[in-house]
Amino acid sequence: MKRVFVTGGASGLGRALAERYAADGWRVCIADVHDARGAETLAALRNSGAEAEFVHCDVTREEDLIAARDFVEARWGGVDVVINNAGVAGAGAIDAVTIDDWKWIIDINLLGVVRGCRVFTPLFKRQGGGHFVNVASMAGFMDVPMMSSYNATKAAVISLSETMQVELAEWKIGVTVVCPSFFKTNLTDSFRSPEPRLRDITQRLLDRPGPSAADVAEDVFRAVHKGGFYVLPHAEGRRALLTKRLLPRALWARMLAKQTRAFTRDNRPGGGG
Ligand SMILES: NC(=O)c1ccc[n+]([C@@H]2O[C@H](COP(=O)([O-])OP(=O)(O)OC[C@H]3O[C@@H](n4cnc5c(N)ncnc54)[C@H](O)[C@@H]3O)[C@@H](O)[C@H]2O)c1
Repeated sequence: MKRVFVTGGASGLGRALAERYAADGWRVCIADVHDARGAETLAALRNSGAEAEFVHCDVTREEDLIAARDFVEARWGGVDVVINNAGVAGAGAIDAVTIDDWKWIIDINLLGVVRGCRVFTPLFKRQGGGHFVNVASMAGFMDVPMMSSYNATKAAVISLSETMQVELAEWKIGVTVVCPSFFKTNLTDSFRSPEPRLRDITQRLLDRPGPSAADVAEDVFRAVHKGGFYVLPHAEGRRALLTKRLLPRALWARMLAKQTRAFTRDNRPGGGG
């Protein structure tokens, strides 16, 4: 029986991934800071017949990830797929977001993934293989204004994953990086911004019709099965990335500035508008 470990597995994409793997008969261990949602997700997984566990785990604490790794190793003898999914969101102008908020988002979105990779790589090496799934975002490719901290953490997760793919191939350790556009989850619960209206805009983008968390999880599940690297579940995201790559930079930047005027409304010279 194969085994998967999912950080941020109590909600949104992490929960959908746990459910997808469970539906395929995998043993599933979810890890999260949110104990109530963790318990509820665990009960739902077990009710569906899955062999599942929940561990309280804060990805900003390496010791929590070490304890989680030791737990799955003791319980199941190892793990086949580790999904570094836990994340938070933030937004704001470059001159408004505080360094404390930068440190907060980097600690979870980037260093949380780094810690997951650091802690599980020695186990994968001892096992003779394994697979990392790192959840980034289209935000790591796009340059949406007022989102610099979130964009930068996700771009770093893409770079980290690309590097790991090259570095770990000889160890038979695979890597997949997931880059969705917006889809409905509880992501705005964690939202930090000096401008509350940016949270509302983000919530509206999350609520738009489009692929669900379950659809994104399905794409991830299939990509991992095939050994795929980039997962770009949204057609609009794939089109935008192609456009960015084809257009001269100045033209792309002007086009994006126009398309994202709702974000920058209050942050343009002369008071916006
Ligand atoms: N929803 C989207 O539109 C979207 C788009 C692109 C990428 N993503 C990424 O998907 C991932 C999952 O987010 P989601 O949209 O499902 O949001 P979500 O808020 O529904 O789920 C995130 C989970 O991570 C957990 N978490 C937060 N901080 C943690 C920490 N320090 N340690 C452990 N767990 C922690 C939360 O408790 C929550 O259960 C994130 O990395 C997010 O950036 C989401």
